[in-house]
Amino acid sequence: MYKIAVAGTGYVGLVAGVCFAEVGHQVTCVDIDKKKVEIMKSGISPIYEEGLEELMQKNNAAGRIDYTTDYQSAYKDADAIFIGVGTPEQPDGSANLSFIATVARQIAESVVKDCLVVVKSTVPVGTNDKVEQFIKDFLINDVKVEVASNPEFLAQGSAVHDTLHAERIIIGTESKQAEHLLMKIYEPFHLPIVSVSRRSAEMIKYASNDFLALKISYMNDIANLCELVGADIQDVAKGMSFDERIGSKFLNAGIGFGGSCFPKDTKALEYIARQNGYELKTVKAAIGVNNEQKTMLYKKASKRLITFNGLKVAVLGLTFKPGTDDLREAASLENVPLLLEQGANIFAYDPVGAENFAKVHPEGRGGRGSITYVSNIEHALEGANVCFIFTEWGEVKAVTPEKYKALMRTPLVYDGRNIYRVDKMQEAGVEYHSIGRKSTIREVLKESKNLELQNS
Ligand code: UDX
Repeated sequence: MYKIAVAGTGYVGLVAGVCFAEVGHQVTCVDIDKKKVEIMKSGISPIYEEGLEELMQKNNAAGRIDYTTDYQSAYKDADAIFIGVGTPEQPDGSANLSFIATVARQIAESVVKDCLVVVKSTVPVGTNDKVEQFIKDFLINDVKVEVASNPEFLAQGSAVHDTLHAERIIIGTESKQAEHLLMKIYEPFHLPIVSVSRRSAEMIKYASNDFLALKISYMNDIANLCELVGADIQDVAKGMSFDERIGSKFLNAGIGFGGSCFPKDTKALEYIARQNGYELKTVKAAIGVNNEQKTMLYKKASKRLITFNGLKVAVLGLTFKPGTDDLREAASLENVPLLLEQGANIFAYDPVGAENFAKVHPEGRGGRGSITYVSNIEHALEGANVCFIFTEWGEVKAVTPEKYKALMRTPLVYDGRNIYRVDKMQEAGVEYHSIGRKSTIREVLKESKNLELQNS
C-alpha cells in the first residue's frame, strides 16, 4: 500500500482520495479551505454525492484518510501526489491553469523524497510536460519528481461508483518506473488499465468528453428536425440504439448538455485546435447546437404566449442533471433570467439545488418578475399558468399527467427532458410541448380565459 496525497477536494480530488483509502492506501487530502477541512474531518462531505459520506466516515474511522491545509506535511514524503484542482474555463475558451501551477510550486518546495505527481485534472495536451519542468525548476531538495497523466471520467451523481467500477483507467507516463508505480496503485481496483504516453492520455480525456457532447448535440439537432418532419426522436433513438456501433447511451435529446465538463472541454479542445492552426469543425458545431438548444423551450413558449408578465410559472428542476446540487452551465441559469425579465412570477422546485440557485437569484423580486423557492412540487404547480421542466429528477418524474391538469390554472407544460408520453398528457388534458416530438393538440387550452395565447 502507498502513501498518497491528493491536492484539491472537489468532485475529482475528494472522490479519488476516498476511493484510494477504501482500497487500502494511506491518504491525505489537501485543501486551502480550513472550514472545509474541518467539515471533512468530522465525516461530512462538502459535496452531494451518493455514497461518498458513508465511505468518508468508514475510512476516517479506520484512520486511512486525513484532511489538512498543511500541504508541506502532506506532500513531503508521499509516494504519489494526485492533483485534482479545477481548470476553469477562461473567456477565450482556454483552461485556467493557475490552480495547477500553485500546487506544482507547493510540491516543488515540499518534497524530500522521490515522488510521482499525477495530474487528474483535465489539462490541455502538453501541459503535463510543462508541469514537470516547472516542478523541476523550483525543486528545493535533490529528489527526482516525475509527472504522469491520469484523467478522470467520473460523472457527477455517480462519482463513487464510477471510480470504484470505472470502465477503464487511463495512465499516461514517460518512464517505466512511473508506469509501474501507477499500475501498482491501481492494482487493488481490479480494473482494465490503458497505458499510453502522457500526451495521448491528455488527449483521450478531451476526445472522450467531446465525443459524448457531440453525440448529444447530434441528437438534439436531429430532434429539432424530427419536429419539423413529424418524426419522434425517442422512437428514432430507439431504432438507432440497436446498432452496436452507435450504442444505446447518450442518445437522449433535451435542452442541451450542462455541467462542469462538456461545455468547458468542448470549448477547450476547440481552442487548442485553433492555437495549432486547425479548425475543429465537428466540436465547433456541437457547441453551436448546444447554445441554441438551451433556450429552445423558452423560445417555443414565447411564440405560444403573448406575454409572461404576471403569470405564475412553475420551474421543476434547476441543476444541470439529477443526482447533483451542481448548477454549472445548467439550462435553468439561462431560462430563469429570461422569464424574470419578461415579468414571470416563478415558483421553483429542486430537491437539492434550490439553495445554490438562490445564491444567484435570491428569493423575491427579480427583473420585472419574482422568484419563490418551494420544497413541494404541488406548491409550484398550484394555480400555475405554465410549467417548465429542466431536470429529470425522480420526484418530478413521479408527478402524474393528471396532477398537472388538476393543480395548474392552465395545464401548459414545456418539458426539456421528454419525461412524459405525449398521448398520456393528451388524455389527461394537458397541453404538452417537449423536444423532438409532436405536441399535444393545442385545443386543450382553448377554453382558458386566463391566458392570452397566440394562434401560432
Ligand atoms: C461528464 C462525463 O459523463 C464524465 O465521463 C466526465 O468525466 C465529466 O463529464 P457529468 O458532467 O457529471 O459527466 O454528467 P453527464 O451525466 O455526462 O451529463 C452531462 C450533461 O449532458 C447533462 O446536462 C445531461 O443532462 C446531458 N445529457 C446526457 C443529455 O442531454 N443527453 C444524454 O443522453 C446524456
